[in-house]
Amino acid sequence: MKNTNFDFKNKNAVVTGGAAGIGFQITKSFLEAGGNVSIWDYSEQALQNAKTEFAQYASQVHLTQVDVTNRESVANAAAALPWAVDILVNNAGITRDKSFAKMGPEDWDAVISTNLTGLFNVTKTLLEKFNSASAHKRIISISSVVGLYGNFGQTNYAAAKAGVIGMAKTWGKELGRKGFTSNAIAPGFIKTAMTMKMPTEVLDGMAAKVPVARLGETEDIANACLFLASEQAGYINGTVLSVDGGIVL
Ligand SMILES: NC(=O)c1ccc[n+]([C@@H]2O[C@H](COP(=O)([O-])OP(=O)(O)OC[C@H]3O[C@@H](n4cnc5c(N)ncnc54)[C@H](O)[C@@H]3O)[C@@H](O)[C@H]2O)c1
Repeated sequence: MKNTNFDFKNKNAVVTGGAAGIGFQITKSFLEAGGNVSIWDYSEQALQNAKTEFAQYASQVHLTQVDVTNRESVANAAAALPWAVDILVNNAGITRDKSFAKMGPEDWDAVISTNLTGLFNVTKTLLEKFNSASAHKRIISISSVVGLYGNFGQTNYAAAKAGVIGMAKTWGKELGRKGFTSNAIAPGFIKTAMTMKMPTEVLDGMAAKVPVARLGETEDIANACLFLASEQAGYINGTVLSVDGGIVL
């Protein structure tokens, strides 16, 4: 469903992990609404695919290969930005699921360095790259329902995603006077290429647990993201917007 409710003409966004999955749809929705997007992603293949998919928006898209865990890589990407930033979407994330008993330090380090330290690296580096004239600066960080409620096999992921909420709220307090809002989105179970590899009966079982009786679409998250990025959402700050079909009710 094309989002025609918001106008992001002359607005510039950075979307980390914007070349695939939820980030791809967030990018697509911003582009359809007239915005410019710099996609920061470490997957060369995903970036190539995004370049092809977004060919019709070539003048609005800027693709950069960047690893959010690597501060030098992030600094280089920030230096290469073609414009000042209005909107940052911290979306890049990974999973390394194992029961706590089996989870090794490498599983912990990989998820924390991407899903938590990655947000520190990117947001810290981009702070001075925001459009200082704008009173509508936006930071939107993708957390998870798991960050609010925990999950089997996801000690590392739950810790990182709870940390994202802490960061989003702190930035809401610290940066509010400087024209920013900072919010988090907590998606439930969203249909992406990765999750669609699961057996149909497992997916059906998960959908049956959701009060609205379906799994989430990437558009559901992108719609929430565009709303929080809009000028109309200017009094929403430091909140966590659950987009999960009511799965935890
Ligand atoms: N899919 C879900 O059900 C779900 C639910 C809740 C939260 N989330 C969160 O939403 C976000 C997007 O998830 P997704 O399902 O679209 O994942 P995905 O794997 O489909 O896409 C993630 C993208 O991030 C990129 N990426 C990963 N590590 C990176 C790094 N170090 N530097 C730069 N780019 C990197 C990948 O290349 C990929 O393009 C993640 O933060 C995830 O934790 C997803």
